[in-house]
Amino acid sequence: MATKFLSSLPVDLDPQRLPRHVAVIMDGNGRWATQRGWPRVAGHRQGAKTLKALLRCCKDWGIESLTAYAFSTENWRRSPEEVNFLMLLFKRLLRQELAVMQREDVKITFIGDLSGLPKVLQQEIHYATQMTAHNRTIQFNVAVNYGSRAEIAQACRRVAEQVEQGKLSAASVSEDLIEQYLDTADTPAPDLLIRTSGELRLSNFLLWQLAYTELYFTDILWPDFDRAAFHQALLTYQSRDRRFGTVSTPLSNSAAQAVL
Ligand code: IPE
Ligand code: IPE
Ligand code: MG
Repeated sequence: MATKFLSSLPVDLDPQRLPRHVAVIMDGNGRWATQRGWPRVAGHRQGAKTLKALLRCCKDWGIESLTAYAFSTENWRRSPEEVNFLMLLFKRLLRQELAVMQREDVKITFIGDLSGLPKVLQQEIHYATQMTAHNRTIQFNVAVNYGSRAEIAQACRRVAEQVEQGKLSAASVSEDLIEQYLDTADTPAPDLLIRTSGELRLSNFLLWQLAYTELYFTDILWPDFDRAAFHQALLTYQSRDRRFGTVSTPLSNSAAQAVL
């Protein structure tokens, strides 16, 4: 009974107004471990558990897509020990979780420059992507060796090549066209971005895609980000008024005349 209760959508959330796509910057693993006198990588191990739990929660609550920032193009600047640990952790998780993803009907996809990753990890990524390609209940998109500026530069290069080859005219380069050349081409933009650990920045994540996303920052460190914390983020999201440049109450002609 208790499990059933936990897995259903909390009653104070409106199922009609849930974000369809949630993106997360999973930050604070290192601090979480350091606070306990443990090596930083212990935080990454715990952070992986948090991500698994969040994916399951999104699925239980009917959210269609989850995008997680796992490793940025700038994270190569960390110590080789930490980078190696992360690469091994990603590989191991992919292997361990594949059966779960199949059972739960999760389609896993990746964004970022995968060619820069260790070969064994690339193979694991390729395998998991292929095996889950037909799953439909939730799309789980992982950003690894991802940097938004690199992604945009790459899109520009591809568009420029098409123009150079005479396949496209410069005049036809539109927002929609650029979007087709981004790593996220087939996914709608996130409705909600969550960043944990109190840092108020995007750290080169989805700069194009987040143009109209609701941003939510919390001081909670990623390994501590549980269902209750996610519930709070969704409540805040549902309290926001997403106007997309319009206004909630249209101005009447008479009111405009009166002010003139
Ligand atoms: C985020 O946690 C995980 C990755 C970047 C891989 P951090 O490792 O950045 O944790 P802090 O910010 O140092 O606490
Ligand atoms: C952003 O976190 C990258 C990921 C969560 C994968 P960082 O910890 O690398 O970001 P900065 O360095 O604090 O901006
Ligand atoms: Mg960090």
